[in-house]
Amino acid sequence: MAFVTLKELLTDAQRKRYAIGAFNTNNMEIVQAIVEAAVEERAPVILQASQGALRYAGIDYIMGLVRAAEKSADIPIVMHLDHGTDFNQVMLCLRKGFTSVMFDGSKKPLEENIAATRKVVEVAHAMGVSVEAELGKIGGTEDDVTVSEHEASLTIPAEAERFCAETKVDALAVAIGTAHGAYKGEPKLDFARLREIRKLVDTPLVLHGASGVPEEAVKRSIDYGICKVNIDTNIRQAFTKGVKEFIMENPSVFDPRKILGPAKEAMKEIIRAKIRLFGSNNKC
Ligand code: 13P
Repeated sequence: MAFVTLKELLTDAQRKRYAIGAFNTNNMEIVQAIVEAAVEERAPVILQASQGALRYAGIDYIMGLVRAAEKSADIPIVMHLDHGTDFNQVMLCLRKGFTSVMFDGSKKPLEENIAATRKVVEVAHAMGVSVEAELGKIGGTEDDVTVSEHEASLTIPAEAERFCAETKVDALAVAIGTAHGAYKGEPKLDFARLREIRKLVDTPLVLHGASGVPEEAVKRSIDYGICKVNIDTNIRQAFTKGVKEFIMENPSVFDPRKILGPAKEAMKEIIRAKIRLFGSNNKC
């Protein structure tokens, strides 16, 4: 079908109370796994690349892969920058055809975060591109962005209200107790805080660090207003497990296609399961 903006997808998701899966990618097999799973599930989908992914693969390679996938797929697809922390990086993504960007100014003091996010929103909106921002500090590591446990802080509802009104962002990532990467214990989500934010803010809300969050908690967070859920770690784990298992069982095989094929299937399985959990299946 066609590339669409984040705003288009999240408006429908918010109204009908489901969430769109936003899956991190950095190579061909991951792009294919995401798009094939989404096509089979009839699910609109968000592919996202972090600054680290763009450094690893090169922005033209990533965009080339995603354009090829988009041509062959009959579902709405968003190409999104995950955790852009640098204004110039965000501008480059706009020029290269991303339909959505996240500007992550969460490490800045509130006033500075508002000012920097507003600058991004002005340019992006003039180009028809959506913007996600972050308020509060989500713990853990997502490629370039690391927030230690003691640095992490939850989103303050009144600040979220002011932030959204002053920046006009299209989506807001909230810190409600999740963390990027593998969890040590079971995460405790602050649902009361999420409900309070939802009461004050109409902007679609985003759950980061969702890989290790129990299914019930993910469902509840969607009931309480989350409409984009980010998944990276689970895909990495499935890829690595698929590769390891194949090599252990077939130590003499050295054809990369034979090794990466099962890894792609393993990623597809987890992505399909997430799409169903988020309720975005059969939506297109
Ligand atoms: P996980 O790595 O925990 O899945 O989080 C992904 C994410 O939030 C990307 O921004």
